[in-house]
Formats: sequence, C-alpha cells, structure tokens
Amino acid sequence: MSKQRAKVLREMGLGPVWTLRTPPPAAAAEGLGDSVDVAAPAPVPMSVMPPAASSQATAAMDWDALAMSVAACRQCGLCEARKQAVLGVGNRKADWLFVGEGPGAEEDQRGEPFVGQAGKLLDAMLAAIGLRRGEDVYIANAVKCRPPGNRTPTPEETATCRPYLERQIELIQPKLIVALGRPAAQTLLRTEVKIGASRGKCFDYRGIPVVITYHPAYLLRTPLDKALAWEDLCFMRHTMKALKAP
Ligand code: URA
Repeated sequence: MSKQRAKVLREMGLGPVWTLRTPPPAAAAEGLGDSVDVAAPAPVPMSVMPPAASSQATAAMDWDALAMSVAACRQCGLCEARKQAVLGVGNRKADWLFVGEGPGAEEDQRGEPFVGQAGKLLDAMLAAIGLRRGEDVYIANAVKCRPPGNRTPTPEETATCRPYLERQIELIQPKLIVALGRPAAQTLLRTEVKIGASRGKCFDYRGIPVVITYHPAYLLRTPLDKALAWEDLCFMRHTMKALKAP
C-alpha cells in the first residue's frame, strides 16, 4: 500500500487494515464480474412532487446559462436565506459525478460544494480510490441553496431544484453517478431509498449507473460505518473499471 493511501485510510479512521481487493466482496455477492448489473429501484413511489416551473427551459441550457440561472434562482424558499447558490465544482467532462444533499454554511459562504468537514472526508474518500477533486470528478448537490440550519431539504425543494441537476448530468455525461446519502439517491432515482439496503448495487439514471453510499457528514457522526463506506468505495471503483473495460 502506498504511503498516501495509508494516510487517507488513517484519515477515514480505517487504519492500515483495509486494502483494495478485486472484485470487492459486495460486487462478488451481486454477481458483478466484469459487467455491471443494474438493480431496479425499490418500487415505492414517492409522494407526488411539483415539477420546477422552468424545467423545459433548463433542459436546453449550456453551462453559462445554467450557472446564471442557478445563481439567480428564486423557485423555492431556500433562496431567502442563502448567501449564494452553489452550482457544483470539477471537471465538466468527468467520468465520475458525486451528488450530495445541499450546501452547508461554509459552502454557502464560499460557493463551492463540500468544502467543510464533510468535504475533507469526501476528499479523503476520493483519494482512497485514486480520485482528486477537479480531475476526473464533478461534485454537485441535490439542492443548490443551503437549507437553513443545515436541515434536510424537503422533497418539494429537491423536486424544484432537480432540473438543474438533470441538466448538469446531461452536460457532463458521467460514466458513473455516486449518490451520497438518502436525499441525493431519492432525488436521482425518484423513489424511496434505504441506504443500507441499496449499497453494493447499481441503479439506473437514464442509462447511467448510480451507486449509493453514506453521506460523509453521516460518517463523521457514525465513524464505525466508515468500514462500510470503504466497501462501497471498492464497489464503485470496481464498477467504473467494468464500465471502462472494452
Ligand atoms: N453536504 C452536502 O451534501 N453538500 C455539500 O456541499 C456540503 C455538505
């Protein structure tokens, strides 16, 4: 194991015990060899959600128009308390797209997703699988404005903001989407999701595989589950390898 990887794993609270295996146990259990199987989302529809008023216009936007539209957005109440909307950060042609929940206080202040404590852990998780913010990764959120008091965004807020995320995905065309936590997974899959039951599987967003793992902020509160997150990282790395295989 390289010194850098050992350091990252120490930062994740995993010590030197965890090393990448191919294929990881979760993938093997799901029968993932070199191919990627797609699991059907749990067939529990969420309550009917209002579409964003501007979803048709958003679907035609380029990055500049999208950035301006997000910055000026007043489609839901989250605009009232935000300092600024946070579009996302990273390579706009990345193979990897990580989707979080919504900006926190520091993200609202700085205009970039995952720059606080949870962001530090996310960076360590990315490093553990050989990724770096801004290289082959784009990071976005389900909602672009900070929910007051860092509360979970409501289904109405995620539904209203969804066209922005949809357009980002359309423009990026990632090979793999990683949903960090329940609100991100539910926004992408439009169905109720339980993280524990969804780990180690591939879901589908308009033909793009989606894998689901714990939100870094949850892992900071529940460090014992970092070991599960490590399994998830192995699974997503293996999944990407399979997707890139000729
Ligand atoms: N949590 C998130 O879900 N997103 C951020 O950008 C920061 C913290």
